[in-house]
Amino acid sequence: MIWNEVTKAIADRRSIRAYKAGQITEEELETVLECGFLAPSGANRQQWFLSVVQDAAVLDDLSEKAYAWRVANAGSQEEIDRINSRPKSVSMGAPTVIFCAYPSEESPVNVSFLAENMVLAAHSIGLGSLFLGGIMAYMKGTPEGREWVGKNLRLPEGYELAYGLAVGYPDESPAAKPRERKLVRI
Ligand SMILES: Cc1cc2nc3c(=O)[nH]c(=O)nc-3n(C[C@H](O)[C@H](O)[C@H](O)COP(=O)(O)O)c2cc1C
Repeated sequence: MIWNEVTKAIADRRSIRAYKAGQITEEELETVLECGFLAPSGANRQQWFLSVVQDAAVLDDLSEKAYAWRVANAGSQEEIDRINSRPKSVSMGAPTVIFCAYPSEESPVNVSFLAENMVLAAHSIGLGSLFLGGIMAYMKGTPEGREWVGKNLRLPEGYELAYGLAVGYPDESPAAKPRERKLVRI
């Protein structure tokens, strides 16, 4: 392995599930977004759209609604206990969520390159991040969730959400999770 700033950032990045209080700066947000938009895309068609939410009241509203939905749809008391043992905040307390969308007729591949660029850029400037895929069950899979998305994210017509990306100042340093080296033939 050749070590340089980029490979080190890739190796050191972790999903962060605990954040310090405090909004990220405009310059930090701009850096993350700009690095996202520098990602490659098929024929440079840039098939993506980002909706950035930094309003704590809006994120709290989503957290409350998603929590109520999870509890209402839990199959057992054990599941309710499990839900209650986790943070209610959909972003795990991160003050910024970048919701990533793509044209629904197209593949989400391109937006994922953009998202990973943002994740690495965030890490390289001392920010933590976490992909939020689980919350899509509520945001895309329920009428209330879709209504919330329509009202708050203002996606262009014909765009579909892929996931959110929580971003903030990390308040934990988790160990690396193992990776499978058998998944390649050379
Ligand atoms: C598309 C996608 C969706 C994810 N959704 C969630 C999620 O909803 N909640 C969560 O805690 N982690 C989520 N993760 C984070 C993964 O669990 C994490 O990347 C994986 O366990 C590897 O750990 P690492 O990122 O620290 O290397 C998601 C990751 C990806 C790529």
